[in-house]
Amino acid sequence: MQLTDAYGRTIRSLRISLTNRCNLKCLYCHREGETRKINNEMACRTIGNIVRASQAFGVDRVKFSGGEPLIRDDFEEIIKSLPRLKDVSATTNGTFLAQRAKSLAESGLDRINISLPSLSPEQYRKVTGGNISKVLEGIDAAVDWGMTPVKLNMVLLKGINDTEILKMMDFIRKFEGKVILQLIELMDFRGTAQYQVDINEVEKFLESRASKIEERVMHRRKKYHIGGVEVELVRPIDNSHFCANCNRLRVTSDGRLKPCLFRNDNLVDVNNKEPSEIMELMKLTMDKREPFYKG
Ligand code: 5AD
Repeated sequence: MQLTDAYGRTIRSLRISLTNRCNLKCLYCHREGETRKINNEMACRTIGNIVRASQAFGVDRVKFSGGEPLIRDDFEEIIKSLPRLKDVSATTNGTFLAQRAKSLAESGLDRINISLPSLSPEQYRKVTGGNISKVLEGIDAAVDWGMTPVKLNMVLLKGINDTEILKMMDFIRKFEGKVILQLIELMDFRGTAQYQVDINEVEKFLESRASKIEERVMHRRKKYHIGGVEVELVRPIDNSHFCANCNRLRVTSDGRLKPCLFRNDNLVDVNNKEPSEIMELMKLTMDKREPFYKG
């Protein structure tokens, strides 16, 4: 039994927001598509129930995000409470990672994505409002505790970091394959059009330097092998492949199933419910799934 929508898209992974709270103020942040202030964060028990319900449909991958997921002191407890899965990962800003990497890895966190829009302390502060040094320590800690491959998420911003791609590649080279660079096209959720980079140019730039190019099924992401490093390009905008291959179901931090990153008008509340009821609601949610960008 699987969760498949009317467009033939089968759910393979959950993306669970643990909190709306964050210690940074990234100028581009899409807040996982959540616009409201949320005060009632899901309990550990509910998160486990949602994962168990989806597992009954063959979903065996979970990614935790935020806000900043490490803001929750019970993140380790949440991970430990999960049934055995193929892949448990998180997306973090990395600022609290140095002191938590060990406990997170020991709890069962397999992999981690770290947002790193710039390597320059000044630009980093300008984009995020935070201090880069803690993040760099966090990257080292994640690698040391084996949460690899560590992916560095770099949202491309014109005039801020668009000339830093080679520098970023040099930076990850020293991790000898344990760190991958993900270049992400900016989605303009909050009046940031001025920072939009021409992603076709970036693609050409990578193509001209790559020794090998692969295409991932999910989102038709391209993966470039360049001088010993791997670079992935994520193009969410106007990309019908992005939607056509969408196999993830989002969960908001207050326990509502979210069929699409780009919409907030079709959420399904499963907070504090038991797995059997959540399973029924997951089936209903499939009727609400629709590609945002159609081919
Ligand atoms: N456009 C593209 N990616 C974004 N992210 C956050 N906001 C945006 C946006 N507006 C990505 C960042 C971060 C992850 C949680 O989501 O890469 O690491």
